Amino acid sequence: MSKPKVIVSRRWPEEVERHMSDVFDVQLNEDDHIMSAEEMKAALKSADAFCPTVTDAVNADVLGVEGATVKIIGSNGVGFNHIDLDAAKAAGLCVTNTPEVLTDCTADIAMTLLLTVARRTGEGERHVRAGEWVGWRPTHMMGTKVTGKTIGLIGFGRIARAMAQRAHHGFGMKVLFHDPYPPSDEDAKALGAEACDSIDDVLARSDFVSIHCPGGKETYHLMNAEMIGKMKPGAFLINSARGDVIDPDALIAALKAGTIAGAGLDVFEGEPKVPEALIAMENVVLLPHLGSASLETRVAMGMRVVDNLTAFFDDKEPQDKLV
Ligand code: DGY
Repeated sequence: MSKPKVIVSRRWPEEVERHMSDVFDVQLNEDDHIMSAEEMKAALKSADAFCPTVTDAVNADVLGVEGATVKIIGSNGVGFNHIDLDAAKAAGLCVTNTPEVLTDCTADIAMTLLLTVARRTGEGERHVRAGEWVGWRPTHMMGTKVTGKTIGLIGFGRIARAMAQRAHHGFGMKVLFHDPYPPSDEDAKALGAEACDSIDDVLARSDFVSIHCPGGKETYHLMNAEMIGKMKPGAFLINSARGDVIDPDALIAALKAGTIAGAGLDVFEGEPKVPEALIAMENVVLLPHLGSASLETRVAMGMRVVDNLTAFFDDKEPQDKLV
């Protein structure tokens, strides 16, 4: 029997590409260019499976292409706001993602952002490299203590819970959260976490607010001027989820006014563009969407896609089926 034809949209770690090439008839993206909508449509018309990443806009226009042969979209990443699931369902396609395997690394990056912005370590490193350091003194580059403070989590899914684990058990922090689908009291208690009835309550009581909800229409600009205005004066905002959850103009205005103390951002609305105003601020930590970027995790994500496709072509239900 011939192997299913699979087209991947970007380069994947070598180990995964090798494994995929053994299992499927794979078309790799040798020069790692960003696929245009036209290229994605062509892929949908010539393969059995298409594997985008979280930066490929697999929208209704792409999914509605005439003469599609693809039966499954095996996305490489946990977030799926780049795929129009309704359009995929209407086209009779199966869509899968890669949860679980990136939970720890993404929580590690969220904690990195929090520590970096609070303790001014990015700024300190730039200071040393610029040859500006003149020695220790009691008033030099004082940051904000993290241990024992209160962290508020917007959303309490896998990554938020891994963040709570680090914050509570590693840094003795009090953990607050709001999630429309809260865990059992027992699960929350194990993480030292207290459920709040509203996001407003989380914002009003937290020294650090960390965003862990999905992106997309429902959470677009959730953190707008009004919501940022509800944060404690001097608090920090951390985002390792999706850029469009924060209104960048509102964030910049709050940082300029000094109503919040700083921000740690791994994701941006319209990335890779980053507002110049943020780049100019020392109290903002900016990372290039590194949440899942460890070799171990990126290999695990790729292998998870292979597992999903394999199950699908064996007429089994893929473990990460979204629709
Ligand atoms: C995801 O998987 O959704 C991340 O944003 C990239 O790893």
